[in-house]
Amino acid sequence: MLQHTKMEKLIRRVIPENVLLDKTTYEAVGKFLKEIAIQEMKHAAEIMERIYFLGGAATTKADKPKIGSSLSEFAKNGVKAEEEALVLYRKVIEAAAKIGDWETRELFEKIYGEEEKHLFKFQEYVGVKDEPEGGEAAVSPWRKIFTDDYFALLNKAVAAEISAIIQYTNQHEKASLLALRKKESALEVVTENNKAKVVSEMLKGIFMQEMEHLEKISERIYLLEGEAVVAPDPLPQVGETADEFLRLDHEAENIAIVLYRQIIAEALKRGDTATRRLFEDIVLQEEEHYWRFDDFI
Ligand SMILES: [Fe+2]
Ligand SMILES: [Fe+2]
Ligand SMILES: [Fe+2]
Ligand SMILES: [Fe+2]
Repeated sequence: MLQHTKMEKLIRRVIPENVLLDKTTYEAVGKFLKEIAIQEMKHAAEIMERIYFLGGAATTKADKPKIGSSLSEFAKNGVKAEEEALVLYRKVIEAAAKIGDWETRELFEKIYGEEEKHLFKFQEYVGVKDEPEGGEAAVSPWRKIFTDDYFALLNKAVAAEISAIIQYTNQHEKASLLALRKKESALEVVTENNKAKVVSEMLKGIFMQEMEHLEKISERIYLLEGEAVVAPDPLPQVGETADEFLRLDHEAENIAIVLYRQIIAEALKRGDTATRRLFEDIVLQEEEHYWRFDDFI
């Protein structure tokens, strides 16, 4: 997803072909990177769900992603990541078959096929000749407000969004198990519903919005020629029950709102209207999330 948002900045029309065609190779690539990112999210969710169903706990830790700064670098990093996934998933398929865990084997066979398609897609671009970056233009005075400490502040928002995405996805999948196993009253049986199920559904809608926030905030950072961070902060926390999820998520939204207010104030002070408006929109949604979690506590 971060490569996708970085593309927005790389789309520059500095060679005559791009000027005349009014498009660049980056535009085509930017689109499929987002599609792959969403598919990887689904893989993570499916695997988490399977782990919870088997009685294990899904991790919230991520391998450190490598972004790169040109199309050929994105492709090279992509090929490496997909190859590593394929080798790992072969092992999972083999191990699952050995013990007769057919469901897991089938899941990973499906995912394996999709990873292979990703690999082929990245391979198409490994040898691509990168478009020139354009000249080193002097930083115009209007851009002087975008200092390192400002990027550091914006990056706290990126880290908070990554944290929320991991936390909510994980809880969403864990809750889907609790939804099946924890019918505690006749009413829950008859309505085929319980609190965990309601919370699971709610979390799904919310983490999709956090994905959009991550996309928009990192896009803004790259556009201003900063670098986005790739690690979550605070560390995502899952919890054991639907009530615990809600309490943790309530707190996560609280932290985000306080931080985004600070960013809005700083953007206002510096006169960075675009960033201020972006965060004003996002903070409205975070507040909505806060109240939705609040409803159930
Ligand atoms: Fe995947
Ligand atoms: Fe993949
Ligand atoms: Fe968010
Ligand atoms: Fe939120």
